Parts: sequence; C-alpha cells; structure tokens
Amino acid sequence: MTQPRHYDLNHTSIWAKLHQHQRATRHMHMRELFAADPQRFQRFSLSLGPLLMDYSKHRITERTLELLFELADAAHLKDWRQRMRAGEAINVSEKRAVLHMALRGQAGDDFQVDGQPVMAQVLAVRARMAAFAEQVRSGAWLGFDGRPIRAVVNLGIGGSDLGPLLACRALRPYAAAQLDMRFVANLDGQHLAQALQGLEPATTLFIVASKSFTTPETLMNAEAARAWLLAAAPTEAVARHFVAISSQTERVRAFGIDPANMFEFWDWVGGRYSVWSAIGLSVMLSIGPAAFEDFLAGARRMDAHFLEAPFAQNIPVILALLGVWYNTFYRAHTHAIMPYDQGLARLPAYLQQLDMESNGKRVGRYGETLDFDTGPVIWGEVGVNSQHAFFQLLHQGTRLVPCDFIVPMRSHYPLDRHHEALVANCFAQTEALMRGKTEAEVLGELAGLDGDTLDMLLPQKLFPGNQPSTTLALDAITPHTLGMLLAMYEHKVFVQGVIWGINSFDQWGVEYGKQLARQIQPELADASAALAHDASTNALIAHYRARKAQP
Ligand code: F6P
Repeated sequence: MTQPRHYDLNHTSIWAKLHQHQRATRHMHMRELFAADPQRFQRFSLSLGPLLMDYSKHRITERTLELLFELADAAHLKDWRQRMRAGEAINVSEKRAVLHMALRGQAGDDFQVDGQPVMAQVLAVRARMAAFAEQVRSGAWLGFDGRPIRAVVNLGIGGSDLGPLLACRALRPYAAAQLDMRFVANLDGQHLAQALQGLEPATTLFIVASKSFTTPETLMNAEAARAWLLAAAPTEAVARHFVAISSQTERVRAFGIDPANMFEFWDWVGGRYSVWSAIGLSVMLSIGPAAFEDFLAGARRMDAHFLEAPFAQNIPVILALLGVWYNTFYRAHTHAIMPYDQGLARLPAYLQQLDMESNGKRVGRYGETLDFDTGPVIWGEVGVNSQHAFFQLLHQGTRLVPCDFIVPMRSHYPLDRHHEALVANCFAQTEALMRGKTEAEVLGELAGLDGDTLDMLLPQKLFPGNQPSTTLALDAITPHTLGMLLAMYEHKVFVQGVIWGINSFDQWGVEYGKQLARQIQPELADASAALAHDASTNALIAHYRARKAQP
C-alpha cells in the first residue's frame, strides 16, 4: 500500500491562530460590535445582482476574516477551484472529474474531461430535452389513446428527486398550468399510490430518473408504475409514457425503455449536483425551455463570481468560511436553514443531501483520519412555521446554531400584507437572535413585579442573543435567482470540503445499509431462513414475521 498523503492543515500555525483568535473573541457580543461600528453592515455585506448577502450578524471582526482567508490560502483553495474547473479527476476515490459547472455552460465554453471537450454533448442533450418539452407542453406528444399528457410523475430518489422537486415547487408561478407535476421517491408504496390518485394512465408521463439505473427504490417504483399503465394500455404504450434519465444506456434498455426515449448525463456529474442536467427534465417540462435556460444562467452567473471574485468579495467563499469558523473553531454541530418562502419549503431537505452527503466524512480525500469535526448537521424548516416550533431553542437554548435566512423581497402572490408580515418576521428573528434581551430591558418590561415572582421570571425572560445568522435576500424567487442560490450552496460545500481535506464527491457511507437491506429483505419473506445478525436485528425480523403472519 502506498503511503497515504497527510492532511496537516490542523497542525499549521494558521489553524492554531484561529483557535487562539476564537478564545480571545468568544465573549464579544454582536450587539456591542454593532454599537461600535456604524459601518458594520456595509463592511460585512455583499451583492451580486438580485442577491444580497448580509453577514454582519456574525461573531466576526475583520481580523477573523483575514485569518479565514489565510486558512483558505493554506488549503490551496484557488488551486482546487481551478482543478475542478479544468475537469481534473478531483473525485479521487472514483477517479472522476466534477463538472456540474459544465452543465450550465454555453456554446463556446471550454469545459473538458480527460482532454475532451464536453460542451457539444451537454448542449445536444439540452436541445433534445427542449424539443421533447415543447412537444409535451404544446400537446403534440400524445398518450396511447391520442390525448395529450396532463400529468408528469418523476420517479427518482436523492439527487434524482430533491433538486427537480425543489425547483418545480419554487418555480410554480412559471409553471405550465396544464401539467400536474408529481414526484415519487419513497419505497413506501403509499407514496406511489397517493401520487397516482386521480391520474389517468392515458394522459400520464413517467420520468424514470436514476443516474446509476440500479437504485432499487426507483426501479421498484418504475416497475409498479409500468404495471399501472399496462393494466389500462397495450405494451407499446410504454414508449409514449416512459422516458428515462440516466448515465447507463444498457440498463435503461434492459428495463424496457427505448434508448431513443432516454436523456443522458455523465459520470462526471454527482447525483446531488445534477439538477442542471437531464435530471432537470421535469423542471423544463414545467417551466419551459426558456425559463430553464434562465435557471442555468443564474447558476452560471454564480460560477463566474465564484471563479473570479477575490475571496473578500466572494459570496460562496465567505459563506463557507463562516461555516468553518463555527463548525471547526466554535464546535457548533449544526447549521439551520430557514427559507421565508413557501415554494422553498424543500430547500432544507435539498441542502441536507448536498451538504451532508458531500462533507459528512471522517476521512480525508487520501484516506487519512481527520481528527476534527467536519460537515455539520443541516436542518431547518420553512420560516414562520419554524418560529412556532423550534425557535425557542435558538433563542434560549444552550447551543450555538448558525442560521441562514433566505427571503425574497417581492412575492409572486398578490397578498402584499402577507408578504410584508413575512419579511418583517424574517428580519425580526435575525435581530432578536443577534441582540438578545438584556436584564435592564427585561426589568423595564417587568416593572411593578417584585420579590419571588420577579426572581423567577427575570432569568426566564432573558435572551442571551449573539446567535449568528446570514440573511440572503433575493429580489424575487425566479428561475435566475434560484439558479444563483443553488450554485452558491454547491460552491460553499466545495470550499468547506477543500478546507477540511475531504473528497466532497463520493458517498461510500450510503452503501452499507443498502447491502444489509438486500440481505434482510429475503429473510423477511422466508420465515424459515436462518438469522445471523445481532440479537436486536434478529428479534426485529422475527417480530415482523410473526406480525405479518397474523390475520
Ligand atoms: O444512495 C445515495 C445516492 O447514490 C445518491 O447519491 C443519489 O443522488 C441517489 O442515491 C440516487 O441515485 P441514482 O440517481 O443513481 O438512482
């Protein structure tokens, strides 16, 4: 075995300096930082077209950022960024390039993999998707009984579900009214059964979305969907009602889908980075090819910014470094995402996969053990609803939880008072989390009380504040701004992976459970099969067998 290369950033002087800086500044309160510097917002905010990032409500000074930029330099961030752009196989464990940026490229861009240009194939697939989308949207693509398609069901999971689902929900104001978009990911039969409720086989189109075309959840749902269609239609109907998105032509053919109905993507696209590829077909069907181009253009704009802007003005770089500051140097374990937009309700789930499947690793890219905390637990919920659920813990709990607040300045829905109230809540939460409420302020509110009641209530009504948040204000949720937002998070995750020495583009950790499920499934079906698991798993299997056998 060759000697693994060592991750040693955590033994460098810059790492030590950041620890020292954290110890020296950890008692500093943001309320005082704001009071001391009337320019704090100007100093710690950035704009890129319709996106404003306010990162002034963080436990940072200019010195903190200087040190974090030094850390990024020490991790060779510029080199890694260039290596990704150049199509080098930076996904070292799978020996693959990482070129989701090429998926939003345009004619003339020089993206290459193994020295071969890739833009021609990217554009060819995009053009085929557009032609197909136009046919379906215009009603020219007919189902088996001659009627146009009215419902589209995307069958996929993980990256083959979350990105398109999020984008279709977020961009509903741009959607073709005649198409009912549905998504099925779960293996639980109720997901498919409920999605099919009210649909007619003759007017339903299924998209089987799977990069590997081996994912059992998706294939099982696709088989059940095909049986549902064929209960009402002749075998030839499959060609009118099933299309596939995959990097595996032969497996698509073996499943019974004509490769003529397949939209390809490539192994240099990770599943969680694939919404820009053919995996976005459902999005294109819903919003149309022109709006989909705008979605790609938004991402491309963020790519150019990420590749070119100096670190001190680079939105994804700063977002990533703030995350490293809390995660590594404050040992904050989680990071919350609060979109104040109903259409972005699935953003936390999308970012869970993007971030946690990418950076939830304990080993560096060359196999070395990392003895510090890496990717945080990402969680969150749509804003306002979450205020009435878990914000108590953010305001008065014991944990440091950095938060992202994402909010559009304009709504597509004509209830202006609602929107203003929504935005007010968003801004108010960032203010309350930052300021807190002091003893003097609480005493003012409790004037008139004294004695035991005051003693009991005072500590309960205090808010420590100093809870950090970034506010990402978008002019409106449009295809363009959504593209910018998602690309921004992709680059954030990349930067953090570089700092922590992680290969953010493989996901070995999801394999083991799948392997055991393949072993357990036949053991559930065959009551006589011998069991050789641990006592708990054996007992659970036995419990299932016994309960299943009951009437
Ligand atoms: O199990 C995890 C995973 O491999 C994800 O990385 C991926 O997005 C998802 O499964 C679906 O994979 P596929 O598109 O190959 O069906």
